Amino acid sequence: MGLLDGKVAIVTGAGRGIGRGEAMLLAAQGAQVLVNDVGSAREGDGTDPSPAESVVQEIRDLGGTAIAAHDDVSTWTGAQATVARAIEEFGTLDILVNNAGILRDAMTFSMTEEQWDDVIRVHLKGHFAMSHFACGYWREQSKDNDGALVGGRIINTVSESGLFGMAGQANYSAAKAGIASMTIVLAREMRKYGVTANAVAPRARTRMTSGVPGAEEFMAAKPGEYDEWDPDNVAPVVGFLASDSAADVSGQVFVVWGSHAYLMRGWSLVNDFDAGDRRWTIEELIAGKADLFAPVPRGSKIPQMGF
Ligand SMILES: NC(=O)c1ccc[n+]([C@@H]2O[C@H](COP(=O)([O-])OP(=O)(O)OC[C@H]3O[C@@H](n4cnc5c(N)ncnc54)[C@H](O)[C@@H]3O)[C@@H](O)[C@H]2O)c1
Repeated sequence: MGLLDGKVAIVTGAGRGIGRGEAMLLAAQGAQVLVNDVGSAREGDGTDPSPAESVVQEIRDLGGTAIAAHDDVSTWTGAQATVARAIEEFGTLDILVNNAGILRDAMTFSMTEEQWDDVIRVHLKGHFAMSHFACGYWREQSKDNDGALVGGRIINTVSESGLFGMAGQANYSAAKAGIASMTIVLAREMRKYGVTANAVAPRARTRMTSGVPGAEEFMAAKPGEYDEWDPDNVAPVVGFLASDSAADVSGQVFVVWGSHAYLMRGWSLVNDFDAGDRRWTIEELIAGKADLFAPVPRGSKIPQMGF
C-alpha cells in the first residue's frame, strides 16, 4: 500500500535531476505519473525525448505506472496539452509538481533580453500556465460535484536565489520570487476547492549546480557518508505535501536538502516609523534615519490593507 495509491501526478522537468527523484518517489508511493520533460540543455536549448522516456522505463521496471510527455510547459498550448494528457490517460489529476527549469546567468548590466525572457518564461510562465490549467480542471471538478473539496495539490519549485537574491541571477531570482508569491496566491484562491499550494526551494547536486564554480567538488558524494547533496533527498518532502496528510498545509515554502526541511517565512514587519496623522517630509526622514532602522518589538504585525 502506497501513500498515493490511486492518485494521478504530473511532474514537469522530470527527466533528470530533482524532478526525476520526485517522479520516482510519487510512483513508488502508488501514484500514476506523467513524466514531463522537453529534454533541453541546462540553458534551455534543444529538445530530447530520451530523459523523460528513460525515467518512465525506470518507474515501470520497478512496477510503477508512468507515461512520458515532452511538451514545453512554458507555452500555453504545451501546458494545456500536458494537463489534458494526464487526465486522458489516467482519468483525473490530483498532484501537480512544477519543477522544470533552466539557468541563463549574467550580471544585470550584461544580461540580454533573451536571457531575461527565457528564464522568466520557463520558470514563472511555466509554473503559472500549468497551474492555470490544473486549477481550471479542479474548479470544474468541484462544481460538478456540488462544491466538493477535490483535494488537488500543487508543489512549486523555488530557490533561495529567489528568497534572498543572488548576484548574476536577476532573471532567475525574480522568476523564483514571483513563484513564491504566486504560491501564496494559489493557496488563497484554491482553498475553497480543497486544493493546496506549497513550494520547495531545493539544494542539490544536479547539472544546474554543477556549473557553479567549486560546486562540483563541494557537493561531491563522500564514500560511506550520508549523501546530503543527492537530488533524491528533495522528493520525500514533495511526497508529504502531495499526500492526504498535508491537506491543511498550504501557502508554505520549505528549503529542502540533505536531512533538512526548513520552514521559511517571508517579508515581515521590522519597524513602524510613524509620522502621525500627516505625511513624512524628506527632511524628517533624513533626520530620523537611525530611528527608521530601529527594530520594533518581536511579534509586532503590519496592518493589512484590508482588500
Ligand atoms: N539543483 C539545485 O540545487 C536547485 C536549487 C534551487 C532550485 N532548483 C530548481 O529545481 C528545479 C529542478 O532543477 P534541477 O537542478 O533538477 O535541474 P536539471 O537541469 O537537472 O533539470 C531540469 C529539467 O527541466 C527540463 N526543462 C527545462 N525547460 C523545460 C520546459 N520548458 N518544459 C519541460 N521541461 C523543461 C530540462 O530538460 C531538465 O531535464 C528547477 O526549477 C530549479 O530551478 C534547483
